[in-house]
Amino acid sequence: MSDSQYDSLPPPDPHERVARLLYASRATLSGPVYAEMERIRASALRHNLPLGIHTALLHQAGWFVQWKEGPADSIAALMARLAHDTRHAGLCTVHASQGPRLLAGPWSMAIVQCREQAADFGRRVALLAAEQAAGRPATPPAAWRRLSTPAGHAGAARQHEPGAFRRLLVVAARGSGSFALVDWLARRAGQPVVHRRYAGAQDLDVGTDLVDLATVQGLVRVVAMARRGLALPLTRAFLPDTGHLVVLLSGDAETDLALLRRIARACAGAAPAPVLLGVAPDPAAHAPPAAAALQAGLHYVPVLADAAHPQAAWPALAAAARQPA
Ligand SMILES: Cc1cc2nc3c(=O)[nH]c(=O)nc-3n(C[C@H](O)[C@H](O)[C@H](O)COP(=O)(O)O)c2cc1C
Repeated sequence: MSDSQYDSLPPPDPHERVARLLYASRATLSGPVYAEMERIRASALRHNLPLGIHTALLHQAGWFVQWKEGPADSIAALMARLAHDTRHAGLCTVHASQGPRLLAGPWSMAIVQCREQAADFGRRVALLAAEQAAGRPATPPAAWRRLSTPAGHAGAARQHEPGAFRRLLVVAARGSGSFALVDWLARRAGQPVVHRRYAGAQDLDVGTDLVDLATVQGLVRVVAMARRGLALPLTRAFLPDTGHLVVLLSGDAETDLALLRRIARACAGAAPAPVLLGVAPDPAAHAPPAAAALQAGLHYVPVLADAAHPQAAWPALAAAARQPA
């Protein structure tokens, strides 16, 4: 499937109810992680697609986390087979629920690069498993986020509180200003940047960086993402929890509209969809993207600031992001 076909995957049917399972396991890989995940992906696409199972796979700090959605009996049969795979051990369920399908496509994978020890990750696995066993399950995205947030991060202990964080996703119509913004925010706050690589069902490998900030106005997570990453099922599953999508405009109408079209496809079916914060210094540059957003049913807020220097735009962005949607 090509990049553009991914972009046009329809949102999941909101009325379909599926089993949703997340488990963690210790990775026992001897070779390079990404190559092994590609092999797992090839098997999974072969077996899971006919069964209607959608999957997201994470590797972090020597652990795998897998999020599966589909018919309960098919998932149970697949899990019985997976448990014998010698590439992982000690499978532990951290979330199980019935509900709408949240992953819009068959496969997503993420590798998180951080200096965290396996034991720290393991403590979060044990905590989530205990909460699940006690009948206090999180949602699948919340469980995924809690597991993947390194322990030392600003507000890590409050990741499970629904309203504790404001979340901003930043994409640039051209260039890599979104990554420059996260890097600058992290250096200014003395916080680590988490680098992640995402991929979909084919060799679409995109980077995404994030920083967690404790500000006087509360906790903020800022995620920079390459444009292609918007189409990935994993990204789309998190959009309802993303209050604002910051769009660093280029000023070139065609380029900006191309990004708006990607955003509209990614946000289709997201309930609620994020509020778009378009960034450009010139009021005229906002008219085409604002019209495209309106047509897609998305709320667009123009932020008059220089998108080429997102650091300079941050005060205006932070203020806009504090406004209720
Ligand atoms: C963490 C992890 C996740 C996996 N996920 C899947 C999966 O979702 N579907 C699948 O068929 N195989 C998955 N596998 C691989 C299976 O254990 C098994 O190797 C594979 O299905 C064998 O099928 P094949 O011989 O046709 O490739 C996974 C393996 C690991 C280590």
